[in-house]
Amino acid sequence: MVILLCFAFSLLLAVVQSNSIKNCHPGCHCEVESFGLFDSFSLTRVDCRGLGPSTTMPILIPLDTAQLDLSSNAMGPLTDTMLAGPGYTTLVGLDLSNNQITKMSPNALSKLRYLETLDLSHNKLESLPPSCFSGLPLVEVDLSHNSFQEFDLEVFSTKVNSEPVSVDLSHNNLVSVSMNLRGRVSHIQTLTLSANRLSSVPHLPGLPLRYLSLDGNPIVEIKEGAFAPLKDLVYLSISSLHELQEIKPFSFRDLGNLQVLDLSNNHKLKALDPAVFSGLNSLQELNLSNSGVVSLPNNMLTHLPSIKSITLGRNIHCWKTQKQGQFHRQLGQVEHNQVLNCNAEGIVL
Ligand SMILES: *[C@@H]1O[C@H](CO)[C@@H](O)[C@H](O)[C@H]1NC(C)=O
Repeated sequence: MVILLCFAFSLLLAVVQSNSIKNCHPGCHCEVESFGLFDSFSLTRVDCRGLGPSTTMPILIPLDTAQLDLSSNAMGPLTDTMLAGPGYTTLVGLDLSNNQITKMSPNALSKLRYLETLDLSHNKLESLPPSCFSGLPLVEVDLSHNSFQEFDLEVFSTKVNSEPVSVDLSHNNLVSVSMNLRGRVSHIQTLTLSANRLSSVPHLPGLPLRYLSLDGNPIVEIKEGAFAPLKDLVYLSISSLHELQEIKPFSFRDLGNLQVLDLSNNHKLKALDPAVFSGLNSLQELNLSNSGVVSLPNNMLTHLPSIKSITLGRNIHCWKTQKQGQFHRQLGQVEHNQVLNCNAEGIVL
């Protein structure tokens, strides 16, 4: 009897084990990484890149998969069922890049309720359904190399219920009630919208973004207060904007936390008003290399109390030093005893 039980148990164990192996699709590579004390944590990573055209979605993946790479699979339009099934609910990171995705159905991602990182780059998206990211704890989204002409931040907001919400809390002994009937707030910190077809800076209200890239979009002009709602922004890249001719004064006025501003490769940008830099109190690095701007505007440094480095032209680098060294040109007084020096002459003033 005992032997029989043992046998049955080991059979069960074998089934469980082979099941977890079986759940790895033949064309995928599945690995379990263990870490922590006594390997108490494990992370399942599944690589299903380039499976070939006859693959049907959803692809079977092991339960508890945390990272899934589905790039280069010619998935086409994303339907509600392609990313649903066991294993998908636990995903933290998902790579859907290079998939010829032209559109997405409204609930295509709705099962991915732990998803933090999403790569949708190198697809053919022109728009996203409203609220398609709502309720997902997304921190990082890459939408670069798509076909967005405008970008609507509604995608991060919660589906708004038109019917009034009524909750009956009578006959309770509630001490405190904490509810968020409007749903969860967005956690998005990193948004990459480079290489799309945006002709203006998208309006991005209510997002706690820290990193934003709009590189390589046909943006012609940056308007005053264009980045007004993004008070948490630390890194802004608006490089390689081949149509950009003008940045209006006070465009960055609300970005008091910005540390890095990349304006490189903007060939049509020829001049900058010093007031463009107004409000950039934390800016440490400014990149103007290979832009049309060849000299720095007079008095610009009064707006940049924290600046440490400015790059310009082909190979000109300016940096802050305690006192003037044997460099060619003094750019201006930054703080008491601190000056900005460049490795070339005639940059400013
Ligand atoms: C400035 O931008 C150029 C071109 O995008 C890049 O190669 C360079 O590394 C950047 N410099 C700094 C200091 O970030």
